[in-house]
Amino acid sequence: METIKIHDKSFQILIPETVIMERVKSLAETLNVIYEGKTLHIICVLNGSFIFTADLVRYLTMPMEIHFVRVSTYGNERVSSGSTREVWGLDSLNISQKSVLIAEDIIDTGFTLEFLRQKIDALRPESIETITFLFKPESFKGTKRPEYTGFNIPDDFVVGYGMDYAQMGRELRAIYQLYED
Ligand code: PRP
Repeated sequence: METIKIHDKSFQILIPETVIMERVKSLAETLNVIYEGKTLHIICVLNGSFIFTADLVRYLTMPMEIHFVRVSTYGNERVSSGSTREVWGLDSLNISQKSVLIAEDIIDTGFTLEFLRQKIDALRPESIETITFLFKPESFKGTKRPEYTGFNIPDDFVVGYGMDYAQMGRELRAIYQLYED
């Protein structure tokens, strides 16, 4: 199978572009039914979620506002630290009594989501749900799973479709997994 090199590591395809796009469309169809008649406030969690959010929102049909927040990152490590994080971008959010959908690229331990949900909850939205493109069930240590998931994946390191390895690889159209360490 084709492998690609990013920095010092090799990666091979895990989810091809065509499969990704079909799944994104089908997630959007689900949301179009569930949020019909509502205005949706989508919160894109930067950086990784920028491509998933951009693709998803273009298949959604309800009125929406798209907001952007940033949670402090793993740095260049390849595993989640699980430590407490900081959020930027919440101050300007006016989501009181609104329907909120948090859009993540990947949920690993779930610590980032747990932290973010608490912060968003304090802004008193009418509802909060989460959509994640990728979910790692084996690594998840949170209390509340995402309501919508693109793909469950094993506990392997992945890049592409917004996700990086030491800031590279975000532009890749497919999801790649680490092939050799
Ligand atoms: C990723 C992802 C989530 C978080 C999930 O972000 O976008 O926010 O990790 O990990 P967790 O469930 O173990 O908390 P990352 O910190 O890699 O930052 P980035 O999106 O800016 O690359």
